[in-house]
Amino acid sequence: MNRELAVLGGWVSVADPNELLAVAVSIVRSAAELARTLRAQGIGEVSTKSTPTDVVTAADRAVERHVIEFLHETRPDDAVLGEETGQTGEMVAPSAVRWILDPIDGTVNYLYGLPQYAVSLGAEVGGQVVAGVVRNPATGDEWTATLGGGAWRAGRRLACSTVTDLGQALVGTGFGYDPARRAHQATVVAALLPRVRDIRRFGAASIDLCLTAEGSLDAYFEKGLNPWDSAAGGLVATEAGALVTGLNGAPPGPGFVLAAPPTIHDLLHAELAELDAAGGP
Ligand code: IPD
Repeated sequence: MNRELAVLGGWVSVADPNELLAVAVSIVRSAAELARTLRAQGIGEVSTKSTPTDVVTAADRAVERHVIEFLHETRPDDAVLGEETGQTGEMVAPSAVRWILDPIDGTVNYLYGLPQYAVSLGAEVGGQVVAGVVRNPATGDEWTATLGGGAWRAGRRLACSTVTDLGQALVGTGFGYDPARRAHQATVVAALLPRVRDIRRFGAASIDLCLTAEGSLDAYFEKGLNPWDSAAGGLVATEAGALVTGLNGAPPGPGFVLAAPPTIHDLLHAELAELDAAGGP
């Protein structure tokens, strides 16, 4: 069933977020199984991308191909933005769906056999993510959300943390691959660490956002995320009640993503702004 979306000059029919979520869950489960099977067979070819530490495995590419082929077959009018392929398909109508895919978020963990990686897929309509799923193939954990429909894991509706004292907050973060950026990120973490309960760096941004959604982390922040890292997880966190923002009034994006409960968002934002966490290279 399609819905109506107001656009300049009238209304257009848009896909139902629940239907998009059903498509996303189905393909992500199959992609996660492929990623798990390929990992069990051993890591083959490994190449590097932006820096020598930014790796891509044959599995990243195989999983991405698997998802793109499925989406192009089942939803030929949709576009797909994938981490390894870039964008395929045209966004002809304002109501067009764009899928945003990270075939393996946490590739370094995948490479090392650490069970903290995910297949992440979001569906965006008119620039807004309306459905998303993040699945950890190693554990089977799966988080889903639809715009306005809440965030869910294993049939349980998720609500983010209600912590009010920043000093008691467990805060997740991540680092980019560029050494100069990492040096700045390290200064931010070093200054923040004495002001919070502790810091966690698990290595898969999509999962960090979902952990924030369920309160396993109180908050999460990172500079330099790509759309595929945060599309699905950002919706899961928002739908669980977290505020997902940039810094200093900017929207969340590559510049910065802060996901935090309303109870500590302003406090953490103030610290991060003071530390110029969105600054540096
Ligand atoms: C990376 C992970 C990591 C985050 C990096 C991302 P990738 O994604 O999400 O946790 O800190 O910024 O690039 O490269 O494993 O898909």
